[in-house]
Amino acid sequence: FIEAVGAREILDSRGNPTVEVEVLLDDGSLARAAVPSGASTGAFEAYELRDGDKGRYLGKGVQKAVEGVLDVLGPAIEDLDASDQRLVDATLIEADGTPNKSKLGANAILGVSLAVAKAAADSADLPLFRYLGGPNAHVLPVPLFNVINGGEHADNGIDMQEFFLAPIGADTYSESLRWGTEVYHTLKGELKAAGFATGLGDEGGFAPDLPSNREGLEFLVKAIEKAGFTPGKDIALGLDVAATEFFNDGVYRLDQKDWNAEQLIEYYEGLVRDFPIVTIEDALAEDDWDNWKLLTDALGSKVQLVGDDLFVTNPERLADGIKRGVANSLLVKVNQIGTLTETLDAVSLAQRSGYTAMLSHRSGETEDTTIADLVVATNAGQIKAGAPARSERVAKYNQLLRIEEELGESAVFAGRSAFPRFTA
Ligand code: PGA
Ligand code: ZN
Repeated sequence: FIEAVGAREILDSRGNPTVEVEVLLDDGSLARAAVPSGASTGAFEAYELRDGDKGRYLGKGVQKAVEGVLDVLGPAIEDLDASDQRLVDATLIEADGTPNKSKLGANAILGVSLAVAKAAADSADLPLFRYLGGPNAHVLPVPLFNVINGGEHADNGIDMQEFFLAPIGADTYSESLRWGTEVYHTLKGELKAAGFATGLGDEGGFAPDLPSNREGLEFLVKAIEKAGFTPGKDIALGLDVAATEFFNDGVYRLDQKDWNAEQLIEYYEGLVRDFPIVTIEDALAEDDWDNWKLLTDALGSKVQLVGDDLFVTNPERLADGIKRGVANSLLVKVNQIGTLTETLDAVSLAQRSGYTAMLSHRSGETEDTTIADLVVATNAGQIKAGAPARSERVAKYNQLLRIEEELGESAVFAGRSAFPRFTA
C-alpha cells in the first residue's frame, strides 16, 4: 500500500516550473514522476494550476500545486493499494471535486497518478510497460520526429506548428530512430545551404523562417532523398497544423492569407496529393465541429486525421467526435486529462472505435519517460516526442530503445501498419 507521497517544484525544458511527485510504498518501492506542460494548449484541457505570484518565476510557480499534493492528495490516497490504479485515480478526482481539476490542478493530480503507477510497477518487479500493458504489450511505435518547428513553438513566420518525419519503412524501432536522425542532420545542411537559420524551436526541430508552409514539406522531401531514402516508402511525412492558434471569428490566417474552412480543406487535399503525408493533426480549430466533419468526409479515407485540441484526451469529447464521424485518430497527452486511468480509457475507446491513437509529449517536457512505456503498454504504434535531439526529447526515444532490447524477439515494429489509411 501507499505509505507516503512527496512533491517538489522543478524546472521543465522551457525553464518553467513544473511538479514532480514521489511515491513510497510500504514494501520500500519508490518512484518519481514529473509533469509536462503545453504552449498551444486546448481550451478544453484539464486545468494547470500556477501560483500567479509575479514575484516568483513571473507568476508561473507551482508551489500551490505542490502543497495540494502534500496536504490533500497524498493523505487522500495513503493506505490505498497502489496496484488499484482506478481506485487511486477516482480518489484523486474526488479529492479535487471539480469537472476540470481546477481546484488542486491537473498538474498536481497527474504527478501523483503517474508516480503511483510507477511505484506499483516497481513493487511488482516489472518494467512499467509490462505492468500496465500485461503479457501482450509488444508493439514498438513509429516515432514521429518533429524536425521543423513553427507556430507557438518558434519565433519564425511558419504558421503550422510541427512538420514530422515518419520512418514507416524501417524493420525495427532502432532502425527508424537511426533513419529519422540521419535525415534530421541532413535537413540541417539543406536549410543552411539555402541560407536559412538552423536554430531550434521548443521541440528540438529547426525553426527556419520559411516563406510558406508548403516549403517546409518540400525541405523534408529533399532531406529524405539526400539522406538516401525514398519519400513515402521509407519515410513518410506528417503535420500538426495546430489550427486553433490561427483561427479567429471563422477565419483561418495561413501564409499571410485569410481562408475559410472549405478553402483550407482544398488546400489540404492538394498537400495530400503532392506529398506522402500519413497524418495531419488539428487541421481545423478545436470548436469547428461541422467543418471537421467536412474535412473527415473529404480526406479521412486517405490520411490519419488526429484530434488534439479537439479531443484533449477526454473520453467524453472523443465519444462525441466518434458519434459525429469526426477525425479518425486520438492524440494522447496525459496532462490534458490529468490521470492515468482516464488516459487509458480514452485510448481504449479510440481503439474500440476504429480510431488510431498517437502518444504525445508536450512542448514543455522533463526527463520523465512515462509516455514511452505507455505507447508500448497500449500497443498504440505511434508516438511523437519531438526531434531526435535535446535531452528531454531523446529521453523518450532512448527509453524505447531499452524497451525494444528488453522485449527482444517479441518486439514488433508497427511500421506502415500504424497508419491503416495511408495507401500512397
Ligand atoms: P503543446 O503542443 O504541448 O505546446 O500543446 C503540442 C501539440 O500541439 O501537439
Ligand atoms: Zn497538437
